[in-house]
Amino acid sequence: MNSERRFFHILESQQFNKEDLTLIFDLANDMEKLSQKEKTLTNKILITLFYEPSTRTRLSFEAAMIKLGGSVISTENAASFSSAAKGETLEDTIRVLNGYGDVIVIRHFETGTAIRAAKVSEVPIINAGDGVGQHPTQSLLDLYTIKKELGKIDGISVALVGDLANGRTARSLAYLLTKYKDVKLYFVSPSNVRMGEDIKDYLRKNNVFFEENEDLREVASKVDVIYQTRIQRERFLNPEEYEKAKGIYVIDKELMKYLPSHSIVLHPLPRVDEIKYEVDSDPRAAYFRQAHNGLYIRMALLSLVLGCY
Ligand code: CP
Repeated sequence: MNSERRFFHILESQQFNKEDLTLIFDLANDMEKLSQKEKTLTNKILITLFYEPSTRTRLSFEAAMIKLGGSVISTENAASFSSAAKGETLEDTIRVLNGYGDVIVIRHFETGTAIRAAKVSEVPIINAGDGVGQHPTQSLLDLYTIKKELGKIDGISVALVGDLANGRTARSLAYLLTKYKDVKLYFVSPSNVRMGEDIKDYLRKNNVFFEENEDLREVASKVDVIYQTRIQRERFLNPEEYEKAKGIYVIDKELMKYLPSHSIVLHPLPRVDEIKYEVDSDPRAAYFRQAHNGLYIRMALLSLVLGCY
């Protein structure tokens, strides 16, 4: 077992270099093969602290910890069921939890919360989504899926589609893709939820090609990956803006005719109506395989932040 701790907190995609990514993906691959994995995290406790709903992220982290021999304590609706409801600050909550567990996975509705938590935490903090900020462990599993499905990341073309203004998964993936050579990004979104200038500036500084394009059919015909995202009703202050954005870019059987045969469709899930169920049986629909990969990536990440791998 290796006991080097390469990183402590996981807060944003930009923190990783190419060497880190290779290590994470190799370790995730090992986790897939080890059905009788040595229980490397016995006596370790994971705390999942979720102030926003989740199915995949919380449960895959919890399953990952249990598979590695550790234990889990959890509050799935921390806004109502933790002492935040009584007015406790996040900082006080984290200081207290430091005495109960070895790693904290946190999801919160405010951007920057994981960074705030990390400032006072003596145990690793893992960002499981902070408002419209980032979702770095999602982007790691997205990239792992791309590598598994296509056999490479360098040189690929990726369409990021949907709610790019509020989509923390798309933002984190864009950051992570800058680590690879000759990647091309196409942003396809309704006009009121375009990709933020902060990401575009970062791409320019890192010499990554990107283009905004309204024609999903045209983009589909030239990409290796369509990364579809949900229009997130809960992020809109004005319901009229949500109505304007929804239902414009939908992946159906007709759209799939434009996608090359080697290409794949990803989605962080949950979906509402932006990928029709009729697409699920197409071998290029990789979104459920993608969700399953989250388990292995999160097993790798827990092992790495706890220095037990
Ligand atoms: N992709 C994702 O973050 O899913 P959950 O909201 O179910 O965790």
